[in-house]
Amino acid sequence: YCGIVGYTGMTKQSAPILLKGLEKLEYRGYDSAGVFIPSKNADADVLVREKGRVADLEALVATKQVSGTTGIAHTRWATHGAPAVKNSHPQYSADERFYLVHNGVIENFNELKQTYLSDVEFQSDTDTEVAVQLISKFVNEDNLSTFDAFNKALVLFGDSAYGFLLMDEHEPDRMYVAKRKSPLLIGVGSDFNVVTSDAVAMLDETHDFIELLDGEVAIVDPTQVQLFNEQGEAVEREPFHLDIDASETDKGIYPYYMLKEIDEQPVVMRRLMERYFDANGQALVGKAILDEMRAADQIYIIAAGTSYHAGLAGARMFEQWAQKPTQVYLSSEFAYEQPLLVEKPFFIFLSQSGETADSREVLQNINQAGYHSLTLTNVEKSTLWREATYALPLLAGPEIAVASTKAYVAQVTLQAILAYALVDSQVANLDLQDELSEITVGIQGIIDDKETFQAVADELLVPETTHSAFYIGRGVDSTVALEAALKLKEISYVQAEGFAAGELKHGTLALIEEETPVMALITQPKTAGLVRGNLSETTARGSHAFTIVTKALAQDGDGYVLPDTNPLLAPLLSVIPAQLLAYYTSLGRGLDVDRPRNLAKSVTVQ
Ligand code: F6R
Repeated sequence: YCGIVGYTGMTKQSAPILLKGLEKLEYRGYDSAGVFIPSKNADADVLVREKGRVADLEALVATKQVSGTTGIAHTRWATHGAPAVKNSHPQYSADERFYLVHNGVIENFNELKQTYLSDVEFQSDTDTEVAVQLISKFVNEDNLSTFDAFNKALVLFGDSAYGFLLMDEHEPDRMYVAKRKSPLLIGVGSDFNVVTSDAVAMLDETHDFIELLDGEVAIVDPTQVQLFNEQGEAVEREPFHLDIDASETDKGIYPYYMLKEIDEQPVVMRRLMERYFDANGQALVGKAILDEMRAADQIYIIAAGTSYHAGLAGARMFEQWAQKPTQVYLSSEFAYEQPLLVEKPFFIFLSQSGETADSREVLQNINQAGYHSLTLTNVEKSTLWREATYALPLLAGPEIAVASTKAYVAQVTLQAILAYALVDSQVANLDLQDELSEITVGIQGIIDDKETFQAVADELLVPETTHSAFYIGRGVDSTVALEAALKLKEISYVQAEGFAAGELKHGTLALIEEETPVMALITQPKTAGLVRGNLSETTARGSHAFTIVTKALAQDGDGYVLPDTNPLLAPLLSVIPAQLLAYYTSLGRGLDVDRPRNLAKSVTVQ
């Protein structure tokens, strides 16, 4: 979690660049923010930190005299120490010479504090302050250079996760940088360089980035970047060019990124079809990947949150179309209690960000064991992209809202393409390219109907009275129920559960009360009648029912009718009403749709 930006240049003022960068990174954490701008004259250094949003920090900065062409900044998602000014970054040393921003967690910070810093009076409750006080101590007491002190401290942090940006006010043009497990990139320019935890924050300045690998350290000056590996040897690495339009990361006319990203889903579908089908409708995913999947006894899909839900939908296509046994696991579980594996496993990692620490833990374990893997991610060059044997891009464009929408649709679609590529199209009895084109039109139709869902949200999920809700379905619909419930709870704070409809009666039915909303997903011909039966069991207890149903299965009184499609592809359609219902429920409750409380996008702690 947490977002980091740093800038060192010859001409431009750094404060506006850093603040704009923080705005773009706010999705990574938003309980406090801070910025440090050094000056050639130490008395004029500026440190501004504020609890709350980046906008609160900006307002405070506007009241100060700020001048300087370098600086570091941070937006925080609290791990150690409650959200408060004193716990905000930059954290600084007692002599006010060193300033540090940090993304990650130093696991042994308490031991380090006791061993090395028992004489230091701490100003905060953070692990980060331990790091900066240590560096200061090594400089002041051991007479080390800042670089050597930084490296000495890094060794003590062992395997902890960190992205660090350090400034020494004696060298106001220089940033010291280090990375392990947390993402960090150095962006290069003509008379400036930047450092950022996510390229989107600095696209207005540069599109050329150097990736940092775990254990590497860098010294970044306005016209020079020096990179060192874990052994301290100098390393040369060419920047890569990132082909993203900076405007893709702007909200434009939209009130919230989430709505923009929901609206972008048809475009994302078209982009995927263009990239992954040839002119004859044959899927293009690379022979090596297909050979490995064919040779495997079983596919293991590893993911978290919404990506896990996409995996649950994908698994059915691998099994039913490609006849390939497939298991889906939560990465945070698989990492610490690995199931017994088959002889020839193949792993698929699903991750919007490509940085989820839980998933990376699994990837590192399976790499060590010598197994092969494929990452499907939205962020090219991300950690899971780099460390897997193969990687394919989701092509959804930057997803900024914390609640994932278009990445889910892209993940389900790309898994469909992979599963389809594994089999003769006769077997699946399906022209996937055609079907996806029709689905794209269908998604657009639902999006064009979005006002319907505003009305449904107002009536079904009443702000004053609705505190819990259920989504139910069978088969692949039960997986969409999980995703639909997650969307609703994470941005509207309605306690929502997604349920396999047949399971309700085995206990959870006890929670149904007068007016409890129960949304039933009915897209599977095999089980439509059964789901309707389960829904009746809830209405008999007073629930407020709403059905989302495909046309062929629709009946009078249904809530919303979706176009018909291949049953296993139905999640691509049925998830859209759920996204819109969550959006309007959050909006109706006056909540910040893009930045739900306690959450952050890109979860880089375990
Ligand atoms: C929910 C959401 C999260 C993520 C999860 C995994 O809307 O976005 O549940 O899906 O944190 O993140 P990625 O896909 O980046 O690995």
